[in-house]
Amino acid sequence: MSPPAAAASLSRTDLEAYWMPFTANRQYKANPRLLGKAQGMHYWTPDGRQILDAVAGLWCVNAGHGRREITEAVAKQLETMDYAPPFQMGHPAAFELANALKNIAPPGLDHVFFTNSGSESVDTALKIALAYHRIRGDAARTKIISRERGYHGVNFGGMSVGGIGPNRKLWSASLIPGVDYLPHTHDIERNAFSRGAPAHGLELADDLDKLATFHDPSTIAAVIVEPIAGSTGVLIPPQGYLKRIREICDKHELLLIFDEVITGFGRTGAPFGAQEFGVTPDIITGAKGLTNGCVPMGCVIVKKDIYDTFMQGPDGIEFFHGYTYSAHPMACAAASAALGIYEREGLLTRAKSMARYWEDAIHSLKGSPHLIDIRNYGLIGALEFEPIPGKPGARTFDVYLKCFEKGLLVRQTGDILALSPPLILERTHVDQIFTTLREVLRNL
Ligand SMILES: Cc1ncc(COP(=O)(O)O)c(C=O)c1O
Repeated sequence: MSPPAAAASLSRTDLEAYWMPFTANRQYKANPRLLGKAQGMHYWTPDGRQILDAVAGLWCVNAGHGRREITEAVAKQLETMDYAPPFQMGHPAAFELANALKNIAPPGLDHVFFTNSGSESVDTALKIALAYHRIRGDAARTKIISRERGYHGVNFGGMSVGGIGPNRKLWSASLIPGVDYLPHTHDIERNAFSRGAPAHGLELADDLDKLATFHDPSTIAAVIVEPIAGSTGVLIPPQGYLKRIREICDKHELLLIFDEVITGFGRTGAPFGAQEFGVTPDIITGAKGLTNGCVPMGCVIVKKDIYDTFMQGPDGIEFFHGYTYSAHPMACAAASAALGIYEREGLLTRAKSMARYWEDAIHSLKGSPHLIDIRNYGLIGALEFEPIPGKPGARTFDVYLKCFEKGLLVRQTGDILALSPPLILERTHVDQIFTTLREVLRNL
């Protein structure tokens, strides 16, 4: 693959207008890092340096970069019909995509609402859960239980159920009411260096029973958790934990929402984490890998009973919710093409066959300086470091920068490095990822 032809040269002034998301803008603009081109497992910087993508962009490019089938499908759709209004009107690709998603979702989850992002999927799912109980005449069910260290996007609903302090702090007076939080499941003291699902912590699920009793279960609408909490540094559920959560939800008639924005589309070794962990939620939220990251799109997949509940009222609009770009034709084309690739290339289950090699490779870093935990599941991995006193995140940010200098893109979150490569990766890529990391860590 040849490097990009034109190198971008942006001056400090050129960088100013763009207010970058979840970025230390001043630090970044003093020392910018640019990506200019992508193909397969790689990015290239505008000056032609090849970067191995160990994070699938941001947990989304599951089939690798620059997939021609997706480009062609999007181009064809734009030439045929650029936009169609989604309210009181439809287009064939939206229905086809909903059917394709139904076919890979756990049995019983068979109706799909389209959004444009993970954040919108979460807010949509919360609105569906609250409205569902009300329509059924169970209007007292207004509370939501989520979990510490959960990430559910940045809109008001997702922020309110999110369990990450800095993401909520400035808006603490404006969060939606009636949310309570389960304890997170991260327990380095008992579970450090676990391979796959850790052995300790099943009892933490019982806190749901305690919280439900405390609030009175008949006031709770839903529980929302990520099967694996990604954004706070890959917190893998203890063995049996999600099953126990499901049982307690059933006992108290609480809807269970799995936020599968990162665990969806093959990341864990099955189409969704739900199938991998053998637990069927009532609602799944997705985004990211849905279109292989090419076009913004999200989805909310719900059980038939939920959809049917909405369909029972008087004729007319059943759910006063939707986005101008719900089921955008271009996004539908990208998603259908991406699902086609996942299907043809076996990518929805490939993580399972690569998982052992990945696991051995990541755990070979044990003993590196300051490394206090290594964890993995499917094609997900995390390295957790002892923080530098008084400087949280500084050590891993240094690792992140050094990796980038050495041609490797990883993700830094606090004192944790997260890895989530495209699912097409080969063993040689795994070797390169961990050889680079070993070199960087050796010199910490
Ligand atoms: C579990 C989870 N939910 C929701 C979101 C929000 O998705 P988006 O950034 O597309 O709004 C993310 C993003 O990383 C996520 O990991």
